[in-house]
Amino acid sequence: MSTKDPENLDDPAASGEAVITADSIYAAEDEEWVELTPLGVPSAGDYGGTDTGSPDAQVRDDANGPGRLLSARPQSAPAALAVPPPQDSPPTRTPSGNRPALRHRARALLTDKLVAEERDCDAQLARLRVRGMSRSVVLAVSSIKGGIGKTTIARSLADAFQGGLRQNTLLVDLDLEWGTAVATAPAEAQRESSILDVYRRRDEIHDVGDLLPHLMSFGSGALLLRAPREPREIDAVTPEVLDGALATVRRFFQVVLLDLPPGAGIKHETCRWAYAAVDEALVVTTPTMATVDYQLRHILQFLRESYPALPLQVALNVVPNRPSRNVREALAMADGILDSRRVLRVHRDDALASQIDQAALDINQLGVRTRVDIKRLAASLAEGWCR
Ligand SMILES: Nc1ncnc2c1ncn2[C@@H]1O[C@H](COP(=O)(O)OP(=O)(O)OP(=O)(O)O)[C@@H](O)[C@H]1O
Ligand SMILES: [Mg+2]
Repeated sequence: MSTKDPENLDDPAASGEAVITADSIYAAEDEEWVELTPLGVPSAGDYGGTDTGSPDAQVRDDANGPGRLLSARPQSAPAALAVPPPQDSPPTRTPSGNRPALRHRARALLTDKLVAEERDCDAQLARLRVRGMSRSVVLAVSSIKGGIGKTTIARSLADAFQGGLRQNTLLVDLDLEWGTAVATAPAEAQRESSILDVYRRRDEIHDVGDLLPHLMSFGSGALLLRAPREPREIDAVTPEVLDGALATVRRFFQVVLLDLPPGAGIKHETCRWAYAAVDEALVVTTPTMATVDYQLRHILQFLRESYPALPLQVALNVVPNRPSRNVREALAMADGILDSRRVLRVHRDDALASQIDQAALDINQLGVRTRVDIKRLAASLAEGWCR
């Protein structure tokens, strides 16, 4: 296996096997991303009738660290994914001036890889589904900085746990001062009932039917318990109220996700309550040196010291498709701060942002890369919850 200087990609004098660099993939993505069917299975048409690449071609994945090679056609890729080369395939060696063909091939190789990864994630979620959860789980989704993607990730995970893992899932908006989780539920699902109402009526809630009038439904079947809207009611949500409301709802849900306000809980009462109450925490951050080297490092150290039994995972959100050197260093550093298997990535995706903003999230309608990110994160979290 060998790599070549990207400068030589179009050089007909360059010898040996065809090598596709991340640069060609990025260029392909910039031009036009081939969207897959909702089932995630590409048709020959998705590849625009171009060459799908030789089996020995390699993709260099700069997003995973400079120089790391990815197998272009993973061994595990099922036969159904193999797209037969069209009759008029261009030659393996790309002649000078044939950049579009190279980009098409790079795109096809990357798409193949992502499709195979998605099938692996689906299979992992199916296995976990069969194993079943050993207990119900309350997961805090937190961050130090605001606006970093807690609500986006919590909302996406709610759908993944409900749809992929088939576990009854409730998202609770604990970002009490007008967090935006409520805006991710469709208009027809909106309800005024909040955490405070569940607490006040907890003695009347005996089964899930008694609880449902207090909840909003996302299209996936996952549900939301909102925060109150009025300042006086927001102020009335004390740790005692949170204890009572959580004890009430967790009887009916296998997975409860808490969408927290920013903070580690040193000064913030809600975060402090949450870290002591939950079974696990997912810390969301962005891949910059400041957020990783300073904020992530400190919050993880603080949580480990203060809650030594609390399992932690990290989601690095809005990872650019074309990470700069600085971002790559931040990603590598995050992998070093916590066991890298517990550090997962969610790429920047405008479609995800827009679906969330329009209260119309449908994971199956997102690009394959984002579907893989969300499913992989869900499966990684659920791995520790199932028998
Ligand atoms: N992976 C992503 N790709 C593109 N946009 C994203 C992604 N994740 C989040 N965003 C966008 O970033 C903005 C902030 O996201 P979000 O509201 O989820 O953050 P937050 O941490 O919950 O914020 P707050 O601290 O205010 O509650 C939103 O506009 C959202 O659509
Ligand atoms: Mg939020």
